Amino acid sequence: MLLGVNIDHVATLRQQRRDGDPDLVAAAKEVLLGGADGITVHLREDRRHIQDEDVTQLRGVVSRLNLEMAATDEMVEFALGVRPDFVCLVPEKREELTTEGGLDVIRNEGRIEACVDRLQSAGIHVSLFIDPEIPQVQAAQRVGATYVELHTGGYAVEGESRVPLRAIQAAASYAKLLGIRVNAGHGLKLNNVSAIARISEIEELNIGHSIVARALTVGLQQAVREMKLLVSFRG
Ligand code: PXP
Repeated sequence: MLLGVNIDHVATLRQQRRDGDPDLVAAAKEVLLGGADGITVHLREDRRHIQDEDVTQLRGVVSRLNLEMAATDEMVEFALGVRPDFVCLVPEKREELTTEGGLDVIRNEGRIEACVDRLQSAGIHVSLFIDPEIPQVQAAQRVGATYVELHTGGYAVEGESRVPLRAIQAAASYAKLLGIRVNAGHGLKLNNVSAIARISEIEELNIGHSIVARALTVGLQQAVREMKLLVSFRG
């Protein structure tokens, strides 16, 4: 199982002051030193966290870069220019706090197929972020996507009664049967990731918020210690 780490929320913190702190490229390097297999960023239409130049800079230092983006002509042009290794097409609503549901591939087949075709023709692997539902997996196959990323948020955040683990397992098995490679992610934390990690068809998990949040807890002592040293030194 590979781990892709989404560092959007490092940029969220930076955008509070816009003075370059925390440094996104430095954060990406730390994430890779920690054992991540790749870096994921979501360039949103409203540019609320990740900026265009972040993606360009990361491209220069990250060998496995996954760009999450909406299925629009503007974003496809951007991706063709930057050439990430992977693009994950996601639905996007301006007012949402995070990606709320999966892409409705069935209702947007023409537009998604055109995006998949342009990106894959340029050698970029394309994944579709979908809810773990068989008809969406079938639609992903019709539009020619190599990968799907199964949305684990329903299960992880709202629990078994909202999206049972077996639905994720069934969607993963079915996708693999159709020859589609399977990733998954959203809402995964230390306390819920293991059940998902046991699904053998899933190749990669994309995890963001919980890792960035945890980094604050486990890193705060060190950050305070460094500042305290300077504050206390009057020599
Ligand atoms: N996968 C996709 C497609 C996403 O949009 C997100 C959130 O940006 C994630 C994974 C990571 O979700 P989380 O931040 O809840 O770990």
